[in-house]
Amino acid sequence: MKTLLAGSAAALVLGVSIFAGAGTRSAPPLDVPFAADTDALLKKCKACHGEDLTGKGKTKGIAGMSKDAVMKALTTATPKPMAAVVKALSDADKTAIADAVAKLPKGSK
Ligand code: HEC
Repeated sequence: MKTLLAGSAAALVLGVSIFAGAGTRSAPPLDVPFAADTDALLKKCKACHGEDLTGKGKTKGIAGMSKDAVMKALTTATPKPMAAVVKALSDADKTAIADAVAKLPKGSK
């Protein structure tokens, strides 16, 4: 009986997903809105640290810095010019930013 129940549940799920696929568009993959959010967050940094975060004018690049170092700049040792931007970030934002910055290729500047 147990097997029979599991089997019909699976058939039901299959039926529902086929139905959803045939009709309306299903929800976008979870990583898409996440990536867009991170991009929006990094945009704030790009204003000063450059389009690739490799530096702009006198402000040095941060691309490829360790996650810890970026977190430090966003938490305990925030440079004064960044204070206003950092203040508006949540803890989750900061972690996402530090994660993303650490994965960027280092610039030559
Ligand atoms: C208003 C301009 C401005 C914005 C916006 C800004 N920064 Fe900065 N940031 C600076 C300046 C100025 C420094 C000090 C630069 C230096 O030493 O050349 C700095 C330094 C840093 C450092 C420390 C570098 C080191 O040497 O330890 C990190 C990390 C950093 N910023 C990350 C970020 C991140 C991440 C963001 C986006 C959330 C951001 N910054 C947004 C201006 C800015």
